[in-house]
Amino acid sequence: MDEMTMWGGRFADGPSALLRALNDSFAFDRELFAEDVEGSVAWAGALQSCGVLNAEEHAQIVEALRSLRLSDGEHEDVHSFVESSLRALVGPLAGKLHTGRSRNDQVATDLKLWLKKACDDASALVTSLVQALAQRGLGEAATPMPGYTHLKQAEPITFGHWCLAYAEMLRRDLSRIADAKSRGDECPLGSAALAGTPLAIDRESLAHNLGFARATSNSLDAVSDRDFAAEYLFASSLLLTHLSRLAEDLIFFTSDEAGYAELPDALATGSSRMPQKKNPDILELTRGHAARALGELTGFLALLKGLPLAYNKDLQLDKEPLFRTRTTLAVLLPALTALVASLQLNRERMAAAAGSELLLATARADKLAATGIPFREAHEQIGKSLDAKSSITVEEALASKNVKGGTAPQRVQEAAREILE
Ligand code: ARG
Repeated sequence: MDEMTMWGGRFADGPSALLRALNDSFAFDRELFAEDVEGSVAWAGALQSCGVLNAEEHAQIVEALRSLRLSDGEHEDVHSFVESSLRALVGPLAGKLHTGRSRNDQVATDLKLWLKKACDDASALVTSLVQALAQRGLGEAATPMPGYTHLKQAEPITFGHWCLAYAEMLRRDLSRIADAKSRGDECPLGSAALAGTPLAIDRESLAHNLGFARATSNSLDAVSDRDFAAEYLFASSLLLTHLSRLAEDLIFFTSDEAGYAELPDALATGSSRMPQKKNPDILELTRGHAARALGELTGFLALLKGLPLAYNKDLQLDKEPLFRTRTTLAVLLPALTALVASLQLNRERMAAAAGSELLLATARADKLAATGIPFREAHEQIGKSLDAKSSITVEEALASKNVKGGTAPQRVQEAAREILE
């Protein structure tokens, strides 16, 4: 039996090659195979609970579903693949599994199951990078370096403080990822095509069987909602935006001009032409991936914005951006974690730049103001006599920023410890 007969009844002709080339999605939605089987096993349980399947039929279907393996071949989508593979094992009984179910609630369920795992993956990977940044932050809590505004040397900070700034951004990313996961934690199964299933099933226990927190509340919304996916893409885009900023900083720190740090050989590339070159490809690809992720998010929102309720086939194109984003994070984050952990610092060069009179000007003005002179006047005075010998050391300047969130080494140590706890 041809698997296209999932919907062949009213058609005299089979689908043309032209249609199939455009319409088939098995080439990419095969990624949802495990989730489709998981959802189908749970649906078989619901069918038994309402008497559509007897105990023996249920056992036969579940056993066959669990024995399925993904393979190549011409299939419309992963749902047809699973059904036709099931049919090959249990015969016409396979046709009962789709009772009261639609591919619309099926694919929304598959995608949500997939997304929860993608969120867990992302969280674990980001957590490792946060830990690496905090470790580095602790170790370099007293390492002076120039801090910048407008990419002009501004005031001394510590390298540890720089590390923890990125740790903070990534900690917010973690909470956004957790948020996306929890809002998407609702099971669409039982919504059928759009109006709800006619079967007397308990949707809450079905949801719990699949590991969801609850069942969705409106069948029209459930089959066409992709907010959870948009939120994942947004959380990932902002994460990648942060990583791109980190990359840009490190490209500058490792430049010949700044020379504050050097990439370990194993995490840098060379030039085929210029023997002296050591290139920061990992960091440049991070910037590039951030650009692509922003495009994925924008495209995704554009896909959704004109859709009438409920399901529309446009939604078939929701998957690849998600799959690509997960793959990107899986490759990028471990590389950046290794890079942060093993970056070689040129501490003398950083300290020399941080201790220059220009960078200490603000701390000197602060010191003058502390004697009672209005800060405006102190600012003016120091501004006019920048070539005079500095009356403050870089260590004093750093230690004076002894406020919560400040760059004083002791504060940086405390902040790093809090993250590592
Ligand atoms: N392959 C489809 C998708 O990913 C599955 C849902 C098909 N539903 C439909 N009504 N044709 O969106």
